[in-house]
Amino acid sequence: MKMCSSTDPLDASRWSIPSPGVSTVFQWDYDAGRSRLLTLYDKGKTKQWDASQRLDWSAQVDPSNPLGFPDFYIVLYGSELWERMSAQERDEVRLHLDSWRFSQFLHGEQGALVCASRIVQTVPDLDAKFYAATQVFDEARHVEVFSRYLREKIGLTYPINPHLKTLLEQALGDARWDLTYLAMQVLIEGLALAAFGLIRDFATEPLGRSLTAFVMQDEARHVAFGRLALKDLYPRLTERERDEREEFAVEACYLMRDRFLGQEVFERLGLDVAACTEHMKSSELMVQYQKMLFSRVVPALKDIGLWGPRLRRAFADMGVLEFAELDTEAQGREDEDVAGELERLREARDSYVAGVSSEAQDGAH
Ligand SMILES: [Fe+2]
Ligand SMILES: [Fe+2]
Repeated sequence: MKMCSSTDPLDASRWSIPSPGVSTVFQWDYDAGRSRLLTLYDKGKTKQWDASQRLDWSAQVDPSNPLGFPDFYIVLYGSELWERMSAQERDEVRLHLDSWRFSQFLHGEQGALVCASRIVQTVPDLDAKFYAATQVFDEARHVEVFSRYLREKIGLTYPINPHLKTLLEQALGDARWDLTYLAMQVLIEGLALAAFGLIRDFATEPLGRSLTAFVMQDEARHVAFGRLALKDLYPRLTERERDEREEFAVEACYLMRDRFLGQEVFERLGLDVAACTEHMKSSELMVQYQKMLFSRVVPALKDIGLWGPRLRRAFADMGVLEFAELDTEAQGREDEDVAGELERLREARDSYVAGVSSEAQDGAH
C-alpha cells in the first residue's frame, strides 16, 4: 500500500483547494425549520439505497460498446474520420468515450460530496444542514457506483477535465455559502441531470442505465434543495450582488458548453483533435445535445430569481431560452417515476429468474 504524508504537495493522487475566509456556522435555534426543506429531508432519509443490493453487478458489459449506445449517438458518427475507421478502432472510440463520460461523472460526484459537506459546515440554517447531511451520503454512494462501474466493467479511467476542475475550484475557493449551492446544486448537478438523462433514456446496457436512473432520482432532490435554499436568499440580495451571481452563472454555462467536449479522448487515441472538434461543432446531434444539457439549469435559475437581462441574453444566444417555461417539479417527479419503473422491472426479472430456477430444481428431483 502506498504511504505518503497528507500534506505532500507532490502527491498527484490528491488535489487541495485553499478556501480562505470560510466560516463554520452553528445554529442554536433548534426549533425553526422551513416545512418544504424538512419534507425534503424526510424524503432524503427514506429514499436511501444500497448500491450492492439495488443493482445487479453480475451483468456482463461489452467492452466494444459499454453503455450500448446506438452508433448514431457517438459524437464522431457521420464524420469522415468515423467512416475511415476499422471496426476495431470504432470499438476503441466507444470504450474511451464511455470511460471519459463516466470518469467525469465520478469526479463531479466527488466534487458534490465535498460541496454538500461544505454546506453542512457553512449554511446558517439548521434545516439546510439537515438536508445537506443526507446529500453527503447520497454523493458518497454516487462516487461508489461510478467508481465501481469504471473499475469492474470498463477497466479504464480518465482524469478530471480541466474545465470541470476550474468550476469546482471556483465553487469551493469562494467563502460565500450560496456560491457553493449555485455552482454545485444548480449548475453542475443541473447539467449532470440532463447528461444522465441521455444515458437513462438512450443507452441499452441495463446496469449502466439503472445505475444512472437511480442516481438521477437522488440528483433531482439535490437540485430541488438548491432551488429551495436560494429562492429564499436571492430576492433579499442587492441588485449588484445578484448581478455577480448571474455573471458567474453565465461564465460557467459557456465554459461547460464550449469547452467540455471530451477532447482528451481524441488526444489519447491519437486522432486529429481539431478535425474531431470541428465535426462536433457542426454536428446536428451535438447542437441538440448541447441545448438539451440546459433543460434543467435554465428553469432552475429562473425559479431562484436569477433572471436578469445578462442571463436572458446569454440563454437566447445559446438557443435555450424556451426551457425557462419547463416545470422543474414535474421534471423531478418524472425522474422518480422512471427510477421506480426500472426497479419494478428488475424485481419482476428477479422473481422470474427465481421461479425458473425453482422449477428447474423441482424438475431435477
Ligand atoms: Fe451525485
Ligand atoms: Fe447530487
